[in-house]
Amino acid sequence: MYRTHTCGELRPAHVGQRVTLAGWVDTYRDHSGVLFVDLRDRYGKTQVVFSPEKGEGLMAVAKMLRPEYVVAVTGTVVRRPEGTENPKLATGEIELRAEEVRILNKSLTPPFHPSAKDLPGEEVRLKYRYIDLRRPEMQETLILRHRMIKIMRDYFDALGFIEVETPMLGKSTPEGARDYLVPSRIQPGCFYALPQSPQLYKQILMVAGFDRYVQIARCFRDEDLRADRQPEFTQLDLEMSFVEAEDVMAVVDGLIARLAKELLGLEVSLPLPRMTYDEAMERFGHDAPDLRFGMELVDVSELAAATESAVFRQAVATGGKVRGMTAPGASAVLTRKNLDELTEYVVHDFGVKGLSWIKVESDGQLVGPAAKFFEGDFRSRLLERMQAGPGDIMFFVADRKDQAGKALYGLRRRLGAELKLYDPSKMHFSWVVEFPMFEFDETEGRWVAMHHPFTSPRLKDIPLLDTDPGACRAQAYDLVINGYEAGGGTIRIHDQELQQKVFGILGMDAATAKERFGFLLDALQYGAPPHGGIALGVDRLVMLFSGRDNIRDCIAFPKTQRAVDLMTGAPSPVDPKQLRELGIRLM
Ligand code: AMO
Ligand code: AMP
Repeated sequence: MYRTHTCGELRPAHVGQRVTLAGWVDTYRDHSGVLFVDLRDRYGKTQVVFSPEKGEGLMAVAKMLRPEYVVAVTGTVVRRPEGTENPKLATGEIELRAEEVRILNKSLTPPFHPSAKDLPGEEVRLKYRYIDLRRPEMQETLILRHRMIKIMRDYFDALGFIEVETPMLGKSTPEGARDYLVPSRIQPGCFYALPQSPQLYKQILMVAGFDRYVQIARCFRDEDLRADRQPEFTQLDLEMSFVEAEDVMAVVDGLIARLAKELLGLEVSLPLPRMTYDEAMERFGHDAPDLRFGMELVDVSELAAATESAVFRQAVATGGKVRGMTAPGASAVLTRKNLDELTEYVVHDFGVKGLSWIKVESDGQLVGPAAKFFEGDFRSRLLERMQAGPGDIMFFVADRKDQAGKALYGLRRRLGAELKLYDPSKMHFSWVVEFPMFEFDETEGRWVAMHHPFTSPRLKDIPLLDTDPGACRAQAYDLVINGYEAGGGTIRIHDQELQQKVFGILGMDAATAKERFGFLLDALQYGAPPHGGIALGVDRLVMLFSGRDNIRDCIAFPKTQRAVDLMTGAPSPVDPKQLRELGIRLM
């Protein structure tokens, strides 16, 4: 037997028992000839004491132990001497007096220590992922991930959802992100695409009468990566028949309450709050606002354009807006240098021309580059509009309305964290609904689907498809958690003609639509029920529920920003023979 107990198991009740533990040497201390070793496994740590009175043979082996050696130790559980208990450790009241020790495997000196406070750069952690994953924090996150997925499966099973697996090797369907392609050997010159999501398969499952489908589905998108995106990620994907948007949201509401309760012990009151897209853009400049704090955007165009400021006057005269935001208590925190950095940030990251700020001094005086434009009556009207008082800083951006909104959204996100405007242990869940159907893509010179081309417009907006597609609103809903888009879904089009029409607005003629999505258009003509669904990003949910800010820490074997797996070295060149078989020649 390698072990009788785990390293997290022993308590005072075990005192006097002879036990065997197996694990990794975590730390190693020599106190004048007595060796103290913390033995670690997934379940915890136990202090093991090697003392010379137990024999020279034992001590000779004990002295060979080094960090990350794998050992099995047999000994007697004893209570720690009074005053030496460690309340931080679940096993801290006892220790194991070693009698026998066996080295099961040695370890090279690890590139970093799993228990060290200072971590090396992420590249080292990813290359030696097996060491990184020994860190209790990483194990906790992956265990939370396991529990989350288990709760999801149980929840949907109880509601009558059926988990159906859908193919990894599918058809490339442009629209959306870039596909990962897989060449076919048997059909030279032809390619499969890895699924960006199981979207069309799940709709077909509704046509096939499954009524309620769910899947923990792997998705692949070849897009530019950020802290909250991976090329390969996991969705909780679901689809339901005979439902409206509210029905889908209600099912997800229930799941969220359950996850919050079981994973974090938080009570969430349902239904989750809802806000329209238009309202979110107006109040926060973004469709996934962080609602843990206020600091809402204010339109001061009228007031600002009446001042002497050339920047403000000109922006408004050319159809733009002056939008502002008051950062409470920022005066005491932000230095002149910080303000310059913030200006640089919005100019660089959001492409606006500048950022104006005005500090309200304790005596109510206004200070800052734009202060001189707001004197007398202007001053009091501004303070009232902006709800600003002593100690606050007001920020303004003059630009196209959406552009100014984006910049202030970025600034708001940053200041919310820097000024500690919210409690990071709190979570805020909400829905953003009624997204536009389409947005105009300037570079492509055409309408593109805001969610995807299978999304149904609000029924009352169907006439707008012919007259004003930009004004048409979709039956779409996004789940937003702490300022992140955690999920998105829609009610789908189940009418073949309406689907054709939407493809047309997206610039696809009938022949192209048939070639790309013929199977869907066919299926819609064989008794497709009304249906809709949603997908939640599992990696993002794990990130949010574990209070992390990086999705890579929530995936066992993630890829870097450059889509590389540093441990295995993927992607890598392949043997010319493999390419020949596939009929591929590299340029
Ligand atoms: P969507 O594209 O909005 O919808 O994706 C749903 C959710 O998946 C997560 N997500 C990602 N997570 C990590 N890395 C990525 N690269 C990434 N891309 C998306 C997000 C997002 O909210 N088929 C539709 C859903 C539907 O309509 O039912 C879809 O895929 O959390
Ligand atoms: P300038 O006239 O470019 O020297 O800018 C004067 C002040 O106005 C500086 O503090 C700029 O950051 C700010 N500013 C310039 N352009 C804008 C803009 N579009 N919106 C808000 N402030 C701006």
